[in-house]
Amino acid sequence: MPTGWRYNAQPRRVLTFKLGGKAKLPPTAPYDETVHPLDDLAVVLNPADVEAGDRLFHLGCHGCHGGMLRSSGAPGPDLRESAVALDKEAMWQVLHEGALLSKGMPRFQRFTREQVHQLYSYIRAGAREALAAGDKRQQPRNVVGMGEAGPGT
Ligand code: HEC
Repeated sequence: MPTGWRYNAQPRRVLTFKLGGKAKLPPTAPYDETVHPLDDLAVVLNPADVEAGDRLFHLGCHGCHGGMLRSSGAPGPDLRESAVALDKEAMWQVLHEGALLSKGMPRFQRFTREQVHQLYSYIRAGAREALAAGDKRQQPRNVVGMGEAGPGT
């Protein structure tokens, strides 16, 4: 569901109003629906893992990270843009060990290494597909970031 919101780009704010008040709202990040997927071209995907990851994702992740990996910016980020999701060990730390628990990303202690691999495969496939379908301004490198606002730029 496109909303133009990006995770962490727009600050959360509470507005209060005063009669005759003259204060102006401080600017916020503009409407932005672009996706900047990351890909690691060295990763070879196994369709059975991608499919199993799809099922897991739609059981436990899509409520926060978006159906079919399309995040509306909240409550969780678009994982096709995630550098964490490029690294299976980092994903294990986040999912199984709860590394981002304090930021609102739940811990999934029951996941096995295989299930994390399946989720990883599903996200990799979705990012690759989005990249193939989208903006080609940037030349592919081993790890590809699309668009000037991608992580690491
Ligand atoms: C209750 C909401 C919620 C659910 C359910 C959830 N997440 Fe998250 N997730 C978050 C939030 C919020 C963040 C961002 C935390 C931060 O700001 O660092 C996050 C971050 C992540 C990150 C790190 C992204 C990055 O680049 O920093 C990964 C990977 C991730 N989630 C994977 C998953 C997977 C896979 C599932 C399902 C098994 C899942 N999440 C379920 C809310 C959720």
